[in-house]
Amino acid sequence: DNSTLAYSVGVTLDRFIKKKQDDFPFASGELSQLLRDIALATKIVNRETNRAGLSNIGGAFGQTNVQGEEQQKLDVIANIRFTRALTKGGEVCAVVSEEDDEVIDLQNSSGKYVIAIDPLDGSSNIDVNISIGTIFSIYRRVTPTGSPIQPEDIMQPGNQQVAAGYVLYGSSTMLVYTTGNGVNGFTYEQSLGEFFLSHPDICAPKTGKIYSINEGSYHSFEDGLKSYLDHCKRKEYNARYIGSLVADFHRNLLKGGIYIYPKTKKSPTGKLRLLYEANALAFIAEQAGARATDGKDRILDIIPNSLHQRTPLYIGSTKMVVEAESFLEVKQ
Ligand code: AHG
Ligand code: MN
Ligand code: MN
Ligand code: MN
Repeated sequence: DNSTLAYSVGVTLDRFIKKKQDDFPFASGELSQLLRDIALATKIVNRETNRAGLSNIGGAFGQTNVQGEEQQKLDVIANIRFTRALTKGGEVCAVVSEEDDEVIDLQNSSGKYVIAIDPLDGSSNIDVNISIGTIFSIYRRVTPTGSPIQPEDIMQPGNQQVAAGYVLYGSSTMLVYTTGNGVNGFTYEQSLGEFFLSHPDICAPKTGKIYSINEGSYHSFEDGLKSYLDHCKRKEYNARYIGSLVADFHRNLLKGGIYIYPKTKKSPTGKLRLLYEANALAFIAEQAGARATDGKDRILDIIPNSLHQRTPLYIGSTKMVVEAESFLEVKQ
């Protein structure tokens, strides 16, 4: 029965962006154009991802990135695709990417926007055909256009994001984003080459029964977190952990759950990166009525001090995150 298909309603991503644009008669349309540029790059990355097993773009690229991680070929390809789309689009002056040590200055001083991006999230899952993602944050530059970009354009806290989103290359490919007025999800229809609005106004359940954490590191967790995990087990919650942040986050956002990447002995400030992983998902979480902290403080209020800085992340259904925090507070 085709009448139940989202695309029979006909709200494409382009049309949706256009409609939102019409709500702001004085906006210049540059943010809308930027979102379209990102959507175009995601279609290209989606195509590469879908045929990765056939086209010899699986496997390691042979270099490590600034965090000392082995880059996969698809990490590098996705980074090139996004950077190129953002350069050609003309709305952006600078890009922070997981795969580049330094800020990429696009030498476009008229561009009003700064982007932080994790071009390919979940690299370890590429070669085993498991869901991967893309994460992006959009900021307005704070110094005047026409002048060279400055550190303060780049090092903005997450509460200054004007938009953020992620793409999940999963059983379907989805793009989910917010411009600070709720969260909407779009599903890609491959044969038409269009994203269609399939998940309007996503609201996260206030609580849930899923907990997602790499429990292999249990012995290096702080005691409060260990007690919280014991609590999850006593409650017989479901343990679900894909190892692709976007996929784990998306599932918990829709179904109700908590995702935790804590500090560990190996990673004393956690593993996930503030600028291009935690901030975007924290913005989306809050816009959907969920919560994101580092176990204590709001992610969006952290003032960044370095490009690739890491943060512990507790994110998901509000009640579950608050409860996890209460376990961490107990004096050891
Ligand atoms: P990336 O692939 O962009 O480097 O991100 C990897 C991250 C994230 O996707 C995932 O949640 C986490 O690493 C998994 O880490 P562990 O293998 O330590 O659980
Ligand atoms: Mn990586
Ligand atoms: Mn990532
Ligand atoms: Mn990545």
